Amino acid sequence: MFNETFKLSNDVEIPKLGLGTWLLDDAQAAQAVRDAVSIGYRHIDTAQAYKNEAGVGEAIRSCGVAREELFITTKVVAEAKTYNAAAQSIDESLAKMGLDYIDLLIIHSPQPWVEFRDENRYFEENKEVWKAMEDAYKTGKVKAIGLSNFLQDDIENILASCEIKPMVNQILAHVSNTPIELIEFCQKNDILVEAYSPIAHGAILDHAEVKIIADKYEVSVAQLCLRYAIQLGLVVIPKTANPDHMRNNAELDFAISDADMETLKNVEHIQDYGEHSFFPVFGGKLK
Ligand SMILES: NC(=O)c1ccc[n+]([C@@H]2O[C@H](COP(=O)([O-])OP(=O)(O)OC[C@H]3O[C@@H](n4cnc5c(N)ncnc54)[C@H](OP(=O)(O)O)[C@@H]3O)[C@@H](O)[C@H]2O)c1
Repeated sequence: MFNETFKLSNDVEIPKLGLGTWLLDDAQAAQAVRDAVSIGYRHIDTAQAYKNEAGVGEAIRSCGVAREELFITTKVVAEAKTYNAAAQSIDESLAKMGLDYIDLLIIHSPQPWVEFRDENRYFEENKEVWKAMEDAYKTGKVKAIGLSNFLQDDIENILASCEIKPMVNQILAHVSNTPIELIEFCQKNDILVEAYSPIAHGAILDHAEVKIIADKYEVSVAQLCLRYAIQLGLVVIPKTANPDHMRNNAELDFAISDADMETLKNVEHIQDYGEHSFFPVFGGKLK
């Protein structure tokens, strides 16, 4: 799995499987990245908001694998909605990680988190932030630029005025919650979709109907969910700090039948993401 890549619209190759690092602190993230790289992972997903860029960067620099063999994503905080705030945050990310460049830089959300999916769409502000992303791309600080949590009209807003088109949109997508129309819109526009929380933040692991299908393929629910997203053409970035889970998540050498893909697309929507339901990405608001 580790060698399999998708190609972005600017021909940069991105590994289909990455390691998510949300909710890991610096020390945990550093250990997880070291473990993941030694297992074979070459793609790591972090964000300014995760407050673990220093830990991720430290592990990247000391893991023994050449920098150019690794693919590192970080995200401009959702609250940075001016050119200067975004540009400054990019320089801070590079400094915190101790890296010369970032492989993929993403706008974390079209709106600040407290206003997530509210009426104010920040269209003008996002154009400004996108300009800072384009400038970072042109100077070589980042090798690819993209979006996260952008809906179709948020994306159209950028497409209508940009010089460089977004290369990815990282969105919530998992069995029981797959935004097919948004995915198709992105794919038609040459925007690669990344599935975040691809195993529903853990909430799908005990799902009886999904477990029956996983058993049929003799795989774990996590593996079934990851394979499902990859078959839809999505990058997956499951989070785990457990090396056994890292290995399990990389064993995806099986194919889900068309009929089972349809069934999985239509599994009833999980409403409850457990103790993390209050996060905006799971439909709640930050406390
Ligand atoms: N752009 C955004 O707004 C956004 C939002 C959310 C997430 N993300 C990104 O997407 C990444 C993944 O999303 P996520 O962290 O929400 O959730 P996730 O990857 O869907 O699920 C993580 C949960 O699944 C468990 N798990 C992982 N592999 C497993 C396995 N093989 N067997 C059993 N359990 C397993 C983990 O537990 P253990 O740790 O015990 O293995 C953890 O509890 C994040 O870390 C972050 O990088 C981005």
